[in-house]
Amino acid sequence: MSHRAKELLSRAVERLVAVRDNTAQLDAEVLLMYLLDYSRAQLYARLDDEVSEQAAGRYTELVERRAQGEPIAYITSHREFMALDFYVDRRVLIPRPETELLVEYTTKKIIEKGWTTEEHPIVDVGTGSGVIAIYLALRFPKVRVFATDISPEALQVAERNARHYEVLDRVSFLQGNLLDPVLEAPRLIVSNPPYTVLAQVEPNVARYEPNVALDGGTKGLAIYRELLSQIKAHIMRPGLIAFEIGSEQANDVTNLGYHFFPGAKIELHKDYAGLDRVLLIDVSRD
Ligand SMILES: C[S@@+](CC[C@H](N)C(=O)[O-])C[C@H]1O[C@@H](n2cnc3c(N)ncnc32)[C@H](O)[C@@H]1O
Repeated sequence: MSHRAKELLSRAVERLVAVRDNTAQLDAEVLLMYLLDYSRAQLYARLDDEVSEQAAGRYTELVERRAQGEPIAYITSHREFMALDFYVDRRVLIPRPETELLVEYTTKKIIEKGWTTEEHPIVDVGTGSGVIAIYLALRFPKVRVFATDISPEALQVAERNARHYEVLDRVSFLQGNLLDPVLEAPRLIVSNPPYTVLAQVEPNVARYEPNVALDGGTKGLAIYRELLSQIKAHIMRPGLIAFEIGSEQANDVTNLGYHFFPGAKIELHKDYAGLDRVLLIDVSRD
């Protein structure tokens, strides 16, 4: 059988369409680019090239993993976040586009408030692959960043990413429950905590991604509640809390916010689909 790149690609697309992969063409291309270490331009320029028997066999294996439902980011071990490339594997949640919004609003606030020096420590709670903490450490080189996670395996991935971006000396990765392992008072707490109801999560997400990264208890609010109560005891005033929230949690998390910080100013921000996904609690006036 011929193993020209374009034929491999069309067989892969056919296989992925058969399992109702909505992004079959894109996925087939990304996997072939990954395997052959090609850019997209190289792939298109070399569609008529012969691919070795061995590479073709390997490609079939990768496509089959995708056909079984495995996310592309785990197959290729990469995910782009804020235009940076991060290593990911099944020890961590795959960073989502909504989290880029959280980081953008957080960045804006840090600049607005002038909290760009070492007197204004930041904590990323539930750091996972480390994307939030590492982005902020790169963006604000003078700020001390702490990043916690209950999962020691996730922290290994985060540290690998921090080493890659040479910020390991400026981000302290700490294992433990929420804010527990952070001994000093933070100015800003940013978090994309587990906020889903596990039973309602898309089956392939629940099957492949760490459940500890998803499970927010029976209403998805358990971690917000516990975290806000910890924050109340520790945050510097003035201070800021920046949360990613589930698309239907705006009211519930806003109420929790006012419960713990009655005088705070709470802002909600929408994603491109018009859903509230970022909640900022300004505790300056608490
Ligand atoms: C939704 S993921 C977010 C990962 C990453 N920050 C991101 O945005 O891609 C939530 C993370 O919180 C961690 N986590 C869950 N419960 C925790 C707890 N009680 N204390 C600290 N981290 C926790 C999980 O291990 C997971 O890495």
